[in-house]
Amino acid sequence: MSTRLFLSPPHMSGKEQHYIAEAFQSNYIAPIGPFLNRFEAAIQNATGSAHALATTSGTAAIHLALRVLGIGEGDIVLASTFTFIGSVSPILYQNATPYFVDADLASWNLDPELLETAITQAPKKPKALILTHLYGQMADIKKIVAICKKHQIYLIEDAAESLGARYEEQQSGTFGDFGIYSFNGNKLLTTSGGGMLVSSNPEWIDRARFFATQAKDDAPYYEHTTYGYNYRMSNIVAAIGVAQMEVLQERVTQAREVFLWYQKELGSVEEIHFMPELPNSSGNRWLTTVTFVRTDYTKVQKALEEENIESRPLWKPMHMQPLFKDALSLQNGTSQKLFEEGLCLPSGTQMQQSDVQRVCKIIKSVCNA
Ligand SMILES: Cc1ncc(COP(=O)(O)O)c(C=O)c1O
Repeated sequence: MSTRLFLSPPHMSGKEQHYIAEAFQSNYIAPIGPFLNRFEAAIQNATGSAHALATTSGTAAIHLALRVLGIGEGDIVLASTFTFIGSVSPILYQNATPYFVDADLASWNLDPELLETAITQAPKKPKALILTHLYGQMADIKKIVAICKKHQIYLIEDAAESLGARYEEQQSGTFGDFGIYSFNGNKLLTTSGGGMLVSSNPEWIDRARFFATQAKDDAPYYEHTTYGYNYRMSNIVAAIGVAQMEVLQERVTQAREVFLWYQKELGSVEEIHFMPELPNSSGNRWLTTVTFVRTDYTKVQKALEEENIESRPLWKPMHMQPLFKDALSLQNGTSQKLFEEGLCLPSGTQMQQSDVQRVCKIIKSVCNA
């Protein structure tokens, strides 16, 4: 059996163990320490965001953003329906009400026109929008920022998958009131698990740090006037993050190259469509994703699995989840269609062109191309 091709395996820079050893030598085996500061500074540098807070996960970072913004019971929070559950479960943690908005075919991300309609049709004025830049590709961010400004709705950018993606020269995650990144094991960069919250507002990040460390009041003993969470990243995990951030640009270039190899092999297969890239934007192509117009994607998935190749269906939209069967949503059929026709292909940044050819040979044979 040939070696297994995974969807998006971790790709270390080689410096990780060296930095972990350094953290051990300093005995900062804690959720504070020099590597935590260095990791946050590296994110600020790479993204241009003024303030950053490292967290235990991307989901925790979204939760902190909602809490800092004072979103609670009875508040409506708009969200991309075409996303992963971690993007929206914090709305439930806050007892707020999610309102899902569909995607457009131009970006596979939130449809700005539908967003306007959703706002006007909402039972009351929504307080915030959680916008996902899916699979590392930018949403139509400028239009979405303008809509949020016009209606005075807070914007939280879920850039969990899109670290290093940009619209014009601005990095994903830095357009909104808050941005978040994930360093989960399957992401372009990983710390095995972790997240980051960014904002241009220093008071908000300070408040998020307070909530992330059990909401301890400024007193000589443990005093609490409210409750918080244990959401702070550890110095050891941050050491991995520092090493990973050193290769961010390299990883983006590699993932984009993997995408180009797929496009070269499959571009002429008429029924296959790739996730698009909006003009003026450059995604990180975290995962190469395709839809099949005629062929049942499950047949492709099965054929790939038989050859020891991992692939995954596109995210099942939130409005189709049993959990959200009664939730507010505005749909146009796009995300459902993408879900029913699409597949994520192995996209690891260690892949060679010959690996991509191996995958594509199977895909083409199933599609009779
Ligand atoms: C779009 C999106 N949002 C949120 C998350 C949550 O991030 P984490 O797994 O770090 O909690 C993920 C990934 O895991 C994601 O892909």
